[in-house]
Amino acid sequence: MLASEVSALNEEIQELVQTLGNGRQALMPILQHIQRKHGYISAHAQQEVARLLKIHPVEVDGVVTFYAFFRKGRRAKYNIRLCQTISCDLMNKDGIAKTFERELGIKFGEVTKDEKYSLEFISCLGMCDQGPAMLINNEVYTNLTPRKVVDILNSLK
Ligand code: FES
Repeated sequence: MLASEVSALNEEIQELVQTLGNGRQALMPILQHIQRKHGYISAHAQQEVARLLKIHPVEVDGVVTFYAFFRKGRRAKYNIRLCQTISCDLMNKDGIAKTFERELGIKFGEVTKDEKYSLEFISCLGMCDQGPAMLINNEVYTNLTPRKVVDILNSLK
């Protein structure tokens, strides 16, 4: 991040705190605002929010990590987020993850060189009876199989 971008972001967060307050209840609205505007909440933004709200950065990180609609990094065109919670885990989440890694040539936590696909694990999507489940951007996919993964990727090409 350039120094000018850092100070613009700091200023923006300061304005949000002035508008929305500096109490704990302002945390979600502030994060939602940053997410909407930038498409993700960078580590620096998290630290700045924590500093201004006088809460521990780990707490901010916990909130950003917990909610699937928050993102920590710049997004690829297709952001693939596979549920790793227990029901999906028991329904062959590992096989699904391996298929994605093999097909895209990247590991979870990585983005393809052309920035077309990114792979991430997330927590329960509330579709546990239809696992394994995932999101591609904001669309939910359920009952995944390795075959289905290949078909979905082909449909995105
Ligand atoms: Fe995967 Fe609930 S455990 S959707």
